[in-house]
This record gives sequence, structure tokens and C-alpha cells, in this order.
Amino acid sequence: MCGIIGYIGNKQASDILISGLSHLEYRGYDSSGIALMHDNKTEIFKAQGKLINLIEILNSALPTYKASHLGIGHIRWATHGLPTTANAHPHTCTCKKLTLVHNGIIENYKELKEELIQNQKNTVFRSQTDTEIAAHLIAYEYGKTKNLLKAMQNAVKKIKGAFAFCAIHNDEPDKIVVAKRNAPLVIGLGEGENFVASDIPAIIEYTKKAIYLCDYQVGVITKDDVKIYDENDVLVQNKIEYLPFEAMAISKMGYKHFMLKEIHEQGDVVRNVLSSKILSPVEKIKLEEFKLDKAKIKNIKRIQIIACGTSLHAGLVGKYILEKFAKIPTDVESSSEYIYRDTIADENTLVIGISQSGETADTISAIKQVKKENSHVIIITNRADSTMARLADSLMPVNAGIEVSVAATKSYMAQLMSLYILAIYLYEQKGLNDYDGEIINLKQELIELPNKIETLLENVSDIKEVARKYANYKDFIFIARGINYPTALEGALKLKEISYINATGYSAGELKHGPIAMLDENMPVLALLNKGIVYDKVLSNCEEARARQAKLIAVTNYVSKKDEGLFNDIILIPSVSDTLSPAVNIVVLQLLAYYISEFLGKDVDQPRNLAKSVTVE
Ligand code: F6R
Repeated sequence: MCGIIGYIGNKQASDILISGLSHLEYRGYDSSGIALMHDNKTEIFKAQGKLINLIEILNSALPTYKASHLGIGHIRWATHGLPTTANAHPHTCTCKKLTLVHNGIIENYKELKEELIQNQKNTVFRSQTDTEIAAHLIAYEYGKTKNLLKAMQNAVKKIKGAFAFCAIHNDEPDKIVVAKRNAPLVIGLGEGENFVASDIPAIIEYTKKAIYLCDYQVGVITKDDVKIYDENDVLVQNKIEYLPFEAMAISKMGYKHFMLKEIHEQGDVVRNVLSSKILSPVEKIKLEEFKLDKAKIKNIKRIQIIACGTSLHAGLVGKYILEKFAKIPTDVESSSEYIYRDTIADENTLVIGISQSGETADTISAIKQVKKENSHVIIITNRADSTMARLADSLMPVNAGIEVSVAATKSYMAQLMSLYILAIYLYEQKGLNDYDGEIINLKQELIELPNKIETLLENVSDIKEVARKYANYKDFIFIARGINYPTALEGALKLKEISYINATGYSAGELKHGPIAMLDENMPVLALLNKGIVYDKVLSNCEEARARQAKLIAVTNYVSKKDEGLFNDIILIPSVSDTLSPAVNIVVLQLLAYYISEFLGKDVDQPRNLAKSVTVE
């Protein structure tokens, strides 16, 4: 959700900023901009829309900007103000000597604006953004102190909300001043050059040594030095970390879109998660990452899962399996709801935070809240270097590999697998008895799962055909019961976010309590119909939908000859137990959403209005 970058050194700053922003585009793509300082002057380039538009502007500009060795840049996911060029960062103060980029939200920007208008009647506002107010505020403080560090320190004391700032000033042309609160910022350390960015991929090509700025700290970055001050203006030393990343050429490997490539990687993702954990069906699961001992595990009275979006849906599947196997009551809640109510967690509560990015602001706030209650916090994330990972008592990195498509697919699969592992692990550590061999069977099935997923992916013609047939419908309903209810929610979310079709997931039993009123021949209903305890019930719900003339699609591993006629279309999936079926069903729904979006000519990998990392509450 907005990405920022800064460079100071001897190289051409524009190249480094643009390359860095290209690695931050997952954080937003409403607009982008860079500010380049040279000879005590700052030149700003901005463009609405994707980064490519900014690159085109630079290509047609006078090449004088190439002489700059100091600059800051920004990629925007709009919060305040339309995604226009005027609202694109960087923003400047009235005299344009101070330039600022910002990731976050300034909650009291209206009050600050009022104060600024009182204090400096000639302030010129050029955008509708909260960031511009911060630029004016820092400049106002600069007027008093003539010192960019002090100006930033004074300004951030007045700002409420979340921010990562990079500021430069024409009168101090040898530095970038940075500050942060509840938004990520990493400072990359080089030889005769230094970097700053919202995330490591933006700088990893240039350095593997970095410092993470902490909340309330302010830093001064010159080309040879980094100085960090805490909120009491005391000089502090942050630990230097060695980044566990390789600069990687991210490629589609011949696939038309990253999303399709990532869907196809899911067999390997499952192998990867399971490889060191399940060695054979009869051996106990190894989970060195989980730091609670047996005695403490036996004391866990409840589990709370906190997550957002797709990760929340993984958590909902987690509830079914944790309650089924670990026999621990489990609640699942959206982080944004969890934060603002009186939740009950204590030292006997296990809290599971799930997040692909590890940077989702709502989930971070919720985790910080429960940490005060002494609950053990386990984080399941695809980013072992993230803010959330650093808050974890136990860290389960899912290692799905970098996910470029904004719509999460393989990271969801990896989260599901981690939850299966955790549920079985808790079950085994509690010494529960596997009387009917269900756990052994499940482990065997997990071992076989990658091949099943790959078999499904080998023949997608039915899914493509259904996508083609239903792409032009305006609405879509997904129904399921039991452990696949979250799969219906996730399937609907995937379709909504990349095709903009109004899709909703319902528990099949709920259909008759209201939503059935919407059914007619213009409403496709997709049912997840797995042979298992709810099969007959879902089938009855399908009959009810059919009686209202809805178009019916079944995703199923079994349908009898007598029931075939009920459905307009049937997508057959490999045979799998009810317990593990979410991991197979979801692949069908991901592909269906993908092919519908592709058929409609939408921007599959970067759907409108979205960002991959949601760092504002
Ligand atoms: C949808 C999607 C989002 C994220 C949500 C939480 O495809 O990716 O719904 O799941 O924004 O993000 P993380 O998992 O990074 O906390």
C-alpha cells in the first residue's frame, strides 16, 4: 500500500529509483513519481497510472536529471484524493525546497491543515492528499530550526496515524531524512551509497546489509553514514541485518500472467511446505518452529486466528481442522474487527496470525494487542523478514516463493498446508488417539496431494469452457457446506477481485434464508459438492436453486448418473477426502476466476483499486 524509496551515493539516482519502484509496484499502481536533487535544486517527475507511464515521461525528458545522485520515489495506492498526477507523490512545500514521499495515512491531517493555514497564511496547497500537509508541516518546522532532522522530529510529534517518510531539502543536499510509525522502512547499507525503501526487493540488487528503522525513530542518511535517533533524540544503534534474499529476475516463465504461473506452482508449494514436516504417514510431524512445549500445548484452552481477506479464508478452513483434530475451540476473526472490541485472550490462548505479506496493518495491530495479554503468537507468513514475523513467538514461514499476482493463490495453498500441519502436530503433541487411523490417512493424502493438484492442472479444458460460458454474467453465487464453506468465500473473492463480477459465497444451508430471493435464470450458482457428510445436503440445496431456474455448476469428485441432469455444467476433480478437499477445490475456483478475467480482458495480475500489501488500517 504505497511504496517509497530513496537513494544517495555516486550512481545515477533515477535508474535506482525506477528499478526499486518496479519491485514495489505490488504495493500500488495508481500513480508514481520521483524527485531528483542536483545542484541544490529538485526536479520532480510524476505520472498517473502504472510505472511504465513514469518511465515514458523520463524517456522523453531532457536528460539533465541523469546527473542526480540523490533522490526519493513513490508508488501510490490512493487513500486521500483521486489517483491523479496532482495527487501523485512526491509532494513539496510552498517554496518547493522540501520534498516528501509517504506511505501511510495521516489521521489528523485536517486539523494540521487548519493550524498551518493559521500559522502560514501564504501556504499553497497543490493536492488533496494528507501527505502534502506533512510536507508543509515539516517545512514549517524547518523554518524554525533550519535543520531537516529537527524539523522532521518536531513534525512527527504532531502527526497522528501511520507513516514512513523520506524527505529531502535543497538547503541540505547531502542527506535523506526518514521517519516511521506503523509502516515498514528498511535502510540498505552500501559502500559510499545508502538506500531506503518500504521493502527489501527494492534494494536487494545493490546491498544485502540493512537496518530496520523502528517506530518513533528518525534517521539521517548520507552517502557514507546512517544516524538513527529515538524519540528522545538519543543516538541509537540498530542491529545490522544480513538480508536472506537473492536479487531475482522475476519472470512469468512462459505463462501469460503471473497468476496462472502461481496457480501452476501449487503442487511444488505443497511439496515444499510438507517436505521436512511429514516424513511418512506413521511418523510424528516435526515442527521445530513451534516454540511451546508439550505441557503448555496441553494448557491451550482456545485458539484465535486473526487475518484478512484470503488469509482469513485460510484461517476459516483452519478452524475446521483445528477443532476436528486438535480438539481446541477455535475462533476466526478479521483483524480489522478484532482490534476495536474487547477481545478475551490470555496466556492459555494460542493466537495464530496469518498473512501472506506479513505487513497487513490491521493484522499487525491485532497481534500487538494480543501480545499484551501474554498469549503465545504464532505467525504463518510468506515473508519471514516482515514486521509480523518479527512480532512472532513462533514463526512458520510458508516459503511459497515470491507471489507477484495481486490475487493470492499459491500463498493461500501454503497457508492451508501450514494449518493442516499445525492441527496434526497439536493433535500428536496432546497424545490423542488415532483410533480409526484418520490421521495416518490424512498424512498419506497430504503426501499424495501435489500429484493430485498437478493432475487437475494438466486438463483444464472443462474449467475454460465454463469460464467462457459464464464470463458475461453480472453476478455469481458460490455455495458449499462444512469445511468447503470458506472455499466458497475464497472462490467468490477471487472472481470479484480480478473480474469485477459481483460474486458472493454462501453456506449452502443459508441460501434459503434470504439469498434465494436473488435466484433466477440470470444467476449462476456454483456448488462445491464433495462426497462426504454434507454431500446430500448440498445436493438438496442445489435442487432448491434449480427450482428457481438458477444456472447450476457443480465442482465435484462424485456425482451419480441420476443427479447429473440437475447441473448445467460439471467440473470433475480428483478424488479426495472431505477433510482435504478445500486444497483441491480452490485450484478449480482460482482457475475459473483466472479464465473469466482473461476472457473479459481484465488486468489479471494488477486488478483495479487493489494492492498486494495493505499497510493502512
Ligand atoms: C486477495 C488477497 C487479499 C489478502 C489480504 C490480506 O487475493 O490477496 O485479500 O489476502 O489483503 O493480506 P495478507 O495475507 O498479506 O495479510
